[in-house]
Amino acid sequence: MPRRSEQRLIRAALRARLNAVAPYSRFAVGAALLTRGGKVYTGANVESASLGLTCCAERVALFKALTDGARDFAAVAVVARIAGGVMPCGACRQLLAEHAPDAAVWVADSGRPGVVREFTVAGLLPGAFVTFEANGRPDPSLRFSRSAALPMRK
Ligand code: THU
Repeated sequence: MPRRSEQRLIRAALRARLNAVAPYSRFAVGAALLTRGGKVYTGANVESASLGLTCCAERVALFKALTDGARDFAAVAVVARIAGGVMPCGACRQLLAEHAPDAAVWVADSGRPGVVREFTVAGLLPGAFVTFEANGRPDPSLRFSRSAALPMRK
């Protein structure tokens, strides 16, 4: 991936970070996802007084992108003011493994955005759980299979 795309995505994450809603931790995180088509989706962390409801920047960006119809992701950038850059949490790694399995992960300290460390989604969550279906089919021994659920309508 060219360094140009890397810096473009880091800059987008830095801008997104400014909109973090983090009154409890005071730890603002910004994320930006790049699609293979060149579109960028950004997000920042949003915290709740009910602390467990907090959503990380990466997931906000991913949910925005997915619900805008984007699918094929080349990279995700994450920035926060922490030495060496911020590492995605386990929950975000899981969602990235499912929806952006081939993405490069670029992390940077927002105070030193020129210094970027690169990882892969697969490397951050080896052996990820990505389906509950054996051979692409629901477990036939279950009385209520997924096929009994309401069909999706176009
Ligand atoms: N956070 C993120 O947004 N992304 C990460 O990769 C790590 C943690 C947020 C969640 C919470 O709002 C704050 O950082 C402190 O954990």
